[in-house]
Amino acid sequence: MSCYIIEGGNRLSGEVQISGAKNAVLPILAAAATQRETTIKNIPFLSDVSNTLQILKKLGMQIKSEGSTVTAINSINTTVLDKELSQRMRSSVLFLGALLGRFGEVTISEPGGCQLGSRPIELHLWAMEQLGAEIVKNDDKIFCKGNLKGKEIELPIISVGVTENIILAAINAKGTTIIKNAAKEPEIDDLIAYLNKCGSKIRREKNTVVIEESNVESYCDYSVMSDRIEAGTYIAMAASTGGELFINNVNPSNIGIIIPIFEKTGCIIKAYKDKIYVDAPERLYSLPKIITKPYPYFPTDMQPQIMAVLSKSEGKCVVKETLFSARNKHIPELNKMGADIKIMDNTTFEIRGVDSLQGSEVYAKDLRGGAALLIAALGAAGESRIYGTEHIERGYEALCAKIECVGGKIGKAV
Ligand code: EPU
Repeated sequence: MSCYIIEGGNRLSGEVQISGAKNAVLPILAAAATQRETTIKNIPFLSDVSNTLQILKKLGMQIKSEGSTVTAINSINTTVLDKELSQRMRSSVLFLGALLGRFGEVTISEPGGCQLGSRPIELHLWAMEQLGAEIVKNDDKIFCKGNLKGKEIELPIISVGVTENIILAAINAKGTTIIKNAAKEPEIDDLIAYLNKCGSKIRREKNTVVIEESNVESYCDYSVMSDRIEAGTYIAMAASTGGELFINNVNPSNIGIIIPIFEKTGCIIKAYKDKIYVDAPERLYSLPKIITKPYPYFPTDMQPQIMAVLSKSEGKCVVKETLFSARNKHIPELNKMGADIKIMDNTTFEIRGVDSLQGSEVYAKDLRGGAALLIAALGAAGESRIYGTEHIERGYEALCAKIECVGGKIGKAV
């Protein structure tokens, strides 16, 4: 089993470049299946991205990759999604809307992804039914077909993936679709911007998204937004090591509430047009409460990382996770490093800050939980070994190289 070996206690300092956003590029690649030809730039080199490219190839698309640019030419000859590839990641469910809308039918399998508690897809299927699809489940296959018609759909809960799936289906539906209570994550607006550049007519007003019938199937090139969660993770690494970083190629307005939360821990943060400067004190303060909620509130995808930071702080914090029922597998591992975190119930955690953490042998069980272990290990005394690198590599491009560039001591043993 491969692991990262980290020699903790080195202050990070210098400049780090943020990559294209995983959670923007995955829906945009699914959207490429609805277009004639697209060139997508700023694509991060991640295992989830290469899986998605494999899915596109298995559908019959021609894919040409050059550095961080991918050109996808539509020559799709099947609407049956590869089961094994789909089960590697949650975002494969986005091909449901893309292919159903474009071809009038699709066969998918239950998607995989990080184990964060129950992650059903019933709302995705319900949304397709609202647009007129018929759905038949047969063993582990889900077959959907229908000529879609635009409709007003009010989401019973805010969901990033369901909002994206409706958009992907509705661009090829007859008439206008209106999504009420839509998610507002910047990655959704990046998908909308890509589709509009391809000729779609989609507009957002707060939590309503309106998709007009456009039937455009064209060429466009598009550069994916930068990864706000990767940027937040590097802010957390600076905080954990008392470091000082310039985090380049980010749009600070997308980072939103992450910045004031880190400021409350005592970090000095300056936001520029396309970069963030962070200067962390030697000793961080805790804050009383953090609650994860859909954008623009504190993101669940930063919950494990802020917990790692607050593990080594002055004071007590209660963290409430409201999106996922079991995003807590990093906690026993952080405690192995000397953190004092109690799981009050599966979604409520109490962190009592300690003076220092000790390097240990720990196991990443999911992507962001793994990032939290890295953050803790960089700020801990002595050596850590973090197993489960495959989870972390789903979401962080060139991780070791970026950390080494700013003075962290990290290697990978395979
Ligand atoms: N939900 C249902 N039924 C459904 C769909 C969703 O109950 O049919 C629930 C989920 O179980 C969850 C809530 O709705 O409790 C919100 O989940 P959402 O659908 O918004 O999540 P997602 O689209 O599956 C994306 C990101 C996740 C991120 C969440 C929340 C991608 C590829 N994934 O997932 O990213 O945590 O939104 O912001 O965009 C990550 O990057 O580490 C990651 C897990």
